[in-house]
Amino acid sequence: MTTKNIVRHTGQATLRDREQFCRQKPHTLWFTGLSGSGKSTLSFALERRMLDRGKACYVLDGDNVRHGLNRDLGFSPRDRAENIRRIAEVARLMNDAGLVVMCAFISPFRKDREMARSIIGPEYFTEIYLDAGLDVCEERDPKGLYEKARAGVIPGFTGVSAPYEWPEHPSLTLDTGRMSIGECLESQDELILFTRV
Ligand code: ADX
Repeated sequence: MTTKNIVRHTGQATLRDREQFCRQKPHTLWFTGLSGSGKSTLSFALERRMLDRGKACYVLDGDNVRHGLNRDLGFSPRDRAENIRRIAEVARLMNDAGLVVMCAFISPFRKDREMARSIIGPEYFTEIYLDAGLDVCEERDPKGLYEKARAGVIPGFTGVSAPYEWPEHPSLTLDTGRMSIGECLESQDELILFTRV
């Protein structure tokens, strides 16, 4: 596919206008980590807290998005890359609209997270690594998927039969394997401050 014969339209409102309207700086917080590391829990708790503080925000979550926009994608490396590409484009649009976006995706491949960073724009993108070890995530197994993966029912499951490439230089690492809910809540405040949103 190409963008040949497609010309961009410039609207009458700028990003600055939308920032003023929303009274905030748009940003994307990108949560990466194994299934069960707390990406969705933390993102939705953060959304609640930010909304309570008058911030316009939205969570893009792997399991949810795969029910709609990305329902045609599986878990091959190629499909995971396309999953991340589409999400990054959606996050970029949401940022352009003035929103703060929390992205909760395993996003196991470094090159795909770098692609997301470059689509969204490095100044709008903060990578947060939820560093819960496989043993903890497997012990939690909130959706019973690790058990199925070990039994061979789910092929190519991240951490069991598919790789997870930990981030080399995340902006923030949270030890969600050990942190209590209270500590996670504190780190949410840190996150809000961290991104100055
Ligand atoms: S990603 O790898 O493409 O970033 P994404 O975050 O969208 O993954 O979706 C992960 C969720 O899909 C997991 O939390 C889990 O519930 C479910 N899932 C189903 N099959 C797999 C699989 N093979 N590997 C990882 N997660 C899977």
